[in-house]
Amino acid sequence: MASEFPYAMNPFPEEAQTKLKTKFLGFKGGLVDVEGRHVMPTHYDRFARRYFNYEFQKDDVLVMTFPRSGTTWTQEIVWTMRNQVDVGTAAKVPLDVRVPFMEFDSLHPEHLPLAAPIEEAFRQRHPGEDPRDKGIFLDLVDALPSPRTIKTHLPFSMFRPDLLDRCKVVYVARNPKDVCVSYYHQQRLVKVAEFMGDFPDYVDFWTQDLLLQAPYWPHLAEGWARRHHPNALFLFYEDMKEDILRELGRLNTFLGTALTESQLQTVARHTSFSGMKSRNTTNPTAALQESGEFKKGEAEFIRKGTTGDWTNFFTPELEKKFEEWMEKWRPTSAEIPFRYHIKVPK
Ligand code: PPS
Repeated sequence: MASEFPYAMNPFPEEAQTKLKTKFLGFKGGLVDVEGRHVMPTHYDRFARRYFNYEFQKDDVLVMTFPRSGTTWTQEIVWTMRNQVDVGTAAKVPLDVRVPFMEFDSLHPEHLPLAAPIEEAFRQRHPGEDPRDKGIFLDLVDALPSPRTIKTHLPFSMFRPDLLDRCKVVYVARNPKDVCVSYYHQQRLVKVAEFMGDFPDYVDFWTQDLLLQAPYWPHLAEGWARRHHPNALFLFYEDMKEDILRELGRLNTFLGTALTESQLQTVARHTSFSGMKSRNTTNPTAALQESGEFKKGEAEFIRKGTTGDWTNFFTPELEKKFEEWMEKWRPTSAEIPFRYHIKVPK
């Protein structure tokens, strides 16, 4: 049964909007604050109720993350595990078609052209209908055959409270310092944001939670609070880096995929950092630079894939600023046991 969307969408004050629009060329339409729980472009308003009340199916699996926390890696893992380790299809069909990004219609700025192949597929399915109004990415989800695996950066509160009674959720978390560095590079790369500043500028926005799909800690808190629910699996990026076969074992049980040890090893190889960086189905940087969706001269979408890269970007001053932000978000920021350095087996 459909429920009312329970939050107000408040445009940020003029001063913040101006600051955002100056540094992020993609934010021309402005951003809204969804009652301190989520930051989205203004036209999220057109889709929010549909996401909130989306009719998930029992065998849907949502990969839910704060941006840059290991979403793409987990999408590829979960899709491959749920599709009989069909690495041939995975190497041919783009990941964003196999595991669509549910809310991308509301992130994509209105002043930019739509992704041509996805718009074309929409027009074939719905002749005469308005792709901007209906949503070409939401339509990809609708059109996907079961069992569906779906990507979202929306936190739990942007869905009806009974979400976990209706489908499964794999929630992936990554330490905020590495997320901040990774998100900085990605926001410079994608035209959706087109961030023009340097890393200290970015930390300034980060510590004010003035970023797309921020704030970080409430998102994490909502995932963490549900970690014991039988239909939720909470993973850490750092644990995946440390021992991927152990985490694939947990996924195998959670998803009920019953893969053998040898199949899990194939999944691990197929989803290795070097493998995913080299395939254009998972790392479409070159193609999207050509189509104009990504900016040239920036770091690739699949960039470095390590834990502790933050030490290469944070000066003592930036670290102090970041720590103050962590203090502000206590107790959540102290409760989730993040690791900022790990030993990775050779
Ligand atoms: S996004 O844009 O929000 O969907 O980004 P997301 O996929 O969540 O996170 C991107 C970071 O994950 C790294 N990545 C990987 N790490 C390890 N192994 C594999 N296979 C892998 N695939 C992607 C990617 O490089 C980004 O991290 P950084 O630190 O920027 O390299």
